[in-house]
Amino acid sequence: EITPVILCGGSGTRLWPVSRKSFPKQFIDLIGEGSLFQQSSKRLAGEGFAPPIVVTNSDFRFIVTQQLHDAGIDPGAILIEPEARNTAPALLAAALVAAKDDPDQLMLAAPSDHYITKADRFCESVHRGVAAARAGQIVTFGITPDRPETGFGYLELGEGAAHGARPLKRFVEKPELAEAERMLAAGGYLWNAGIFMYSARTLIDAFANHQPEMRGQVQASVNEAQPDLGFLRLDPKSWAKCEDISVDFAIMEKVDNLSVVAHDGDWSDMGGWNAVHQHAERDAQGVALQGKAHAVDCKDTLLRSESGAVQLVGLGLQNIVAVAMQDAVLVADRSRTANLGDVVKQMRAAH
Ligand code: GDD
Ligand code: MG
Repeated sequence: EITPVILCGGSGTRLWPVSRKSFPKQFIDLIGEGSLFQQSSKRLAGEGFAPPIVVTNSDFRFIVTQQLHDAGIDPGAILIEPEARNTAPALLAAALVAAKDDPDQLMLAAPSDHYITKADRFCESVHRGVAAARAGQIVTFGITPDRPETGFGYLELGEGAAHGARPLKRFVEKPELAEAERMLAAGGYLWNAGIFMYSARTLIDAFANHQPEMRGQVQASVNEAQPDLGFLRLDPKSWAKCEDISVDFAIMEKVDNLSVVAHDGDWSDMGGWNAVHQHAERDAQGVALQGKAHAVDCKDTLLRSESGAVQLVGLGLQNIVAVAMQDAVLVADRSRTANLGDVVKQMRAAH
């Protein structure tokens, strides 16, 4: 059985004002049935999967238990990070906890901000990577790129196949635009879906080799962890010393035991409002309406009213994203919504 590790500690600033620090995007009914976190958990609750390890922080712990309960899922463990340190320490902590039971168990690290409608296709891809993961590979899942996206990792394909997966030559996380354009034109690259499969031992060894300090700090934090109701609170002292870094930069760009399974089903990172617009139901003019919203003579526009009380009307708009909440409104040019994260960070710093 594969143990899913579901990461849901991110704050999703690019989907402000719906995504808030206290209630980020993965817990919101953004698109599809239930929240993205619930959809991710359900996708990995079928045959061949053990109960998931969820890694989150203190603020979200009851949202997590409530949403898992509502989705009918019993978690294996819920780890609480004392503070957000990005995905590298989070995944290492989950691997160390799992390794106490069985260091050879397979783990599937899954973000909670993805939208995948065909769960069975996705699970097929996962199972195609099992043999390689058992053989000590870190298995990535590759998506065919269709634009020079700079928010993703790129997987440079190697030659041949081993254990049913393709070896990788190189992992490039979040390239500059020129580099992304070059890779797209050159071919031979896939996007990293942000989902990884490995045995607990393989990941721990990778940290021992490439992030020895973090390996020690996270181990100490796990050793001193305190059970609290159904949660396991990682020890804050050693955790605070950990570098704030994603697993992509800390590990994936450095290791040489990477393989890829190409996933040819649907996959989308719900990173920003553009993605929501693209995947929402749209009319022939490209207008997507969510909640109490109404459009007249609009084109390629997303209008969303999050609160039942606020009526949102768009007139003669083109390429606009407008999102109305009880206490905040976003009106943005659709081509600019990728920069929303920086704007929100500036706002938070100013307050
Ligand atoms: N527990 C926990 N703690 N979870 C976290 C933290 C943290 O400190 N930081 C982020 N996460 C969660 C997010 O909630 C999300 O579900 C997942 O980890 C991935 O983090 P993102 O911040 O969304 O990563 P990204 O989208 O920039 O990049 C990753 O995903 C891309 C595909 O969507 C990388 O793996 C890229 O290479 C990849 O292409
Ligand atoms: Mg993401």
